Amino acid sequence: MHAIMIREPGGPENLEWTEVPDPVPGRGEVLIDVAATAVNRADLLQRQGNYPPPRGASEILGLECSGTVAELGEGVEGWQVGDEVCALLSGGGYAEKVAVPAVQLLPVPGEVELTAAAGLPEVACTVWSNVVMLAGLKEGDVLLAHGGAGGIGTHAIQVGKALGATVAVTAGSAERLERCRQLGADIVINYREQDFVEELRSQTKGADVILDNMGAKYLGRNVDALATGGRLVVIGMQGGVKGELNLGKLIAKRGSISATTLRARPVEEKGEIVAAVREHLWPLVERGSVQPVIGQVLPLAEAADGHRALDEGGVFGKIVLMAK
Ligand SMILES: NC(=O)c1ccc[n+]([C@@H]2O[C@H](COP(=O)([O-])OP(=O)(O)OC[C@H]3O[C@@H](n4cnc5c(N)ncnc54)[C@H](OP(=O)(O)O)[C@@H]3O)[C@@H](O)[C@H]2O)c1
Repeated sequence: MHAIMIREPGGPENLEWTEVPDPVPGRGEVLIDVAATAVNRADLLQRQGNYPPPRGASEILGLECSGTVAELGEGVEGWQVGDEVCALLSGGGYAEKVAVPAVQLLPVPGEVELTAAAGLPEVACTVWSNVVMLAGLKEGDVLLAHGGAGGIGTHAIQVGKALGATVAVTAGSAERLERCRQLGADIVINYREQDFVEELRSQTKGADVILDNMGAKYLGRNVDALATGGRLVVIGMQGGVKGELNLGKLIAKRGSISATTLRARPVEEKGEIVAAVREHLWPLVERGSVQPVIGQVLPLAEAADGHRALDEGGVFGKIVLMAK
């Protein structure tokens, strides 16, 4: 098969479309004929040599894909050759074929096109596991999602609204904020021009849940933006890893801070998240209340351009790479 390989750690020019051995599905795994994959920020770090794949995972980039089941490994039940699926991967998505534990598979939901489904597993599993399973967002809560115009943010807006929350987002331009509003965001904040703590606190009691991609840079202000009993969940470190935390403020609010990652979790935990997504979130996608937001589609062989686009910013939602 063909796959995108990293010639040596560095820039996007080091990505090359080349021939590699086909993966073989092990016990409990399924071989997928990949239709499409999607670009994640973690792929950029891995390409630079700063985010090695977890032990046992494919060296090939790609944390999600859609496609058709081509072969079942020993002991796999519940799936058939020919099924259209999408999957959460620990790696290996930037290829024509990938082997994945069957518990990480999801059916392509409702009317979603096979190509667009490639952009769902990573955002669906990240948003659901953090915002709902961990932070317990419920009807009437206030959700603040930073980076509302990104892959995670565009999904978080829709999930928050589908659950009956008030959703506030930050983004870097009026045009991107307007698109967030069209997706359902109630409160839109330009992080280049406005103070998100002031904006949020002037319109709400504070955030019950914050989904944060910035890390250190926003740590103090995120605590300020929390409501009493609020939960801050950090999933990204775009604003650095080391920050200062005022525990006095956190205690006064009886607040909590968590930081999580999806990729490093063992297969069983990923399976639990995928099962919860299938049970609770997939019906929302089937009904159309939550839809994939795809900002750009490119051939997989041109993955380097996808990396450049994500790095430069400006894409609304996900970048999908078509393997066929
Ligand atoms: N922990 C996990 O398991 C996990 C899983 C998936 C993703 N992530 C992380 O989650 C983050 C979002 O992922 P993604 O796929 O949505 O990436 P993405 O599509 O590249 O979006 C990144 C977003 O960051 C926003 N941003 C940049 N500077 C900002 C600032 N100062 N304040 C607020 N927002 C700012 C951008 O907003 P504008 O474009 O509007 O400027 C953009 O929407 C990334 O850091 C990623 O690594 C973590």
